[in-house]
Amino acid sequence: EKGGFDHFMLKEIYEQPRSIKDCMRGRIYPEEGKVQLGGIKEFAEKLKNIDRIIIVACGTSWHAGLVGEYLIEEYARIPVEVEYASEFRYRNPIITEKDVVIAISQSGETADTMAAIEMAKERGATIFGICNVAGASIPRLTHAGVYTHAGPEIGVASTKAFTAQVTVLTLMAFYMAQQKGTITTSKLIELLTELDHIPEKIQVALESNELIKEVAEKIKDSTNCLFLGRGSGFPVALEGALKLKEISYIHAEGYPAAEMKHGPIALIDEEMPVVFIATQNSSYEKVISNIQEVKARKGKVIAIVTQGDTEVKKMADYCIEIPDANEAFLPLIATIPLQLLSYHIAVMRGCNVDQPRNLAKSVTVE
Ligand code: F6R
Repeated sequence: EKGGFDHFMLKEIYEQPRSIKDCMRGRIYPEEGKVQLGGIKEFAEKLKNIDRIIIVACGTSWHAGLVGEYLIEEYARIPVEVEYASEFRYRNPIITEKDVVIAISQSGETADTMAAIEMAKERGATIFGICNVAGASIPRLTHAGVYTHAGPEIGVASTKAFTAQVTVLTLMAFYMAQQKGTITTSKLIELLTELDHIPEKIQVALESNELIKEVAEKIKDSTNCLFLGRGSGFPVALEGALKLKEISYIHAEGYPAAEMKHGPIALIDEEMPVVFIATQNSSYEKVISNIQEVKARKGKVIAIVTQGDTEVKKMADYCIEIPDANEAFLPLIATIPLQLLSYHIAVMRGCNVDQPRNLAKSVTVE
């Protein structure tokens, strides 16, 4: 049932070109520059006048929420706050009827996320869900929602569910932008045309598997690892670090690259691998200076770069190329090599990749 793969996690990583296609099916119309989200269409009018969005989630789903914040603010110009469900539920948050809460959960059963939804609902907010498991508890608690359609995810470490969540958030950002009129049809045509081809770019990213395995071999015995990115590369870094720590038990931290000099830089020596999201987008030059800072302290740099990059290659110890894409879609592609890197490191360390110690696929207790 692993489809010829050694582990469910690897099978699920390789399923992503397909799962993302499934997630977009019937929802995007590139030629018309239109997004349709049947699950939330009842609220189309309301979306024109909302003051803000609060995203609640845990773990990997929370990371997807951070990518969503970036996309919704950029395109729909609606302020977004991303909250850990477990913190949000125990504060006394200010919520009004004009707020929309988006709850993200692969399993649809996470206790803290459910409690956050219940609290926001009592206070009058409109609740949207982004879930993978149809008919789970969260989709039943929400007012409306959009399924990720990634198919069953068996590996405890979330992979294809994460990229499907990011895909849904991308669609939601465009849908809200369309409703609010903060995006032109021609811009949407351009973006949706590119989004439609993202599965092929993910396929290309997967083709670096052998190279990623070689990089994994070099850093597999590390005790620590840093992941750094800026802009939407920051949540990608957080997700890369979470994947590594949960399946390989290497201590890993994700940081916004510029925050490094406010503390984590003290950790850098020749033993410390630092993984950079260093693709060619608006923060490229800034990331390059952060790479220089790490190299000056003899850190080992592994960089996720845009195909054909020459600048980063001069400095980094290892470069893994991914296809170029609009900044909006980079998280979807840049995540792929990080999933593979964690996978190979964990396998090389003899870890139980599909069922890491102490973890459960759905966390139904707080
Ligand atoms: C990490 C992972 C967890 C979950 C978290 C939320 O790979 O799987 O961090 O993302 O427990 O679970 P869901 O999305 O089911 O609410």
